[in-house]
Amino acid sequence: MKVIVVKNQLEGGKIGFNLLKEAMENGAKTLGLATGSTPVEFYNQIINSDLDFTGMTSVNLDEYVGLDGSNDQSYRYFMNKHLFEEKPFKENFLPNGKAADLDAEVKHYDQIIAEHPIDWQILGIGQNGHIGFNEPGTPTDITTHVVDLEESTIKANARFFTSEADVPRQAISMGLASIMKSKNIVLMAYGKEKAEAVKGMIEGEVTLDLPASILQTRDNVTVIADEAAASLL
Ligand code: GLP
Repeated sequence: MKVIVVKNQLEGGKIGFNLLKEAMENGAKTLGLATGSTPVEFYNQIINSDLDFTGMTSVNLDEYVGLDGSNDQSYRYFMNKHLFEEKPFKENFLPNGKAADLDAEVKHYDQIIAEHPIDWQILGIGQNGHIGFNEPGTPTDITTHVVDLEESTIKANARFFTSEADVPRQAISMGLASIMKSKNIVLMAYGKEKAEAVKGMIEGEVTLDLPASILQTRDNVTVIADEAAASLL
């Protein structure tokens, strides 16, 4: 794993953008995208660039069960607002959180990923080391699945909702096996709340208890962390 320590999210976003630009110059066509506060500056860098994304496809990591794109807490809404409305792509895929048949949706999303192999994946990290919504204990060979969110994740994500009770209890998430197939992975982490998870991911043992630690087992992973998130390294 290559670790780049930055001053702040703005610097991290610029470095992430340059890595993406290089990947696109080398032929990357499908991007794996993430939500959360972490990639917002990175998305701003994309929006403010003159790079053309109309030939690009995006496949997002996850979506809350029960929320559709018109709900301002859905990840579809987030992606529209923070990226897609400003920077048009050829196509943008996210799991459908309102699917009547979740099992069918899971299979459908795996099909989408199979048809659009991810060249370049951006990741954030949860305080408990989750990536996407692959919570601690998730098997590494899993593909898209429905997740019961951990209490700590519900609490951490409650800041985006009116109250904790409004946070959905389930999500559909791309699995670790699919994330690991991406040719390049760039994980960003900012803030002291992420320091323990970042330390475990980079220096700890590879364990299901900290899903991001699986990234140690492959090449082409770059971690961009601010000084607070990197403070325990
Ligand atoms: C959510 C998302 C993750 C994200 C994490 C961290 O749980 N499913 O993809 O990485 O939150 O969020 P933030 O970037 O807001 O800290």
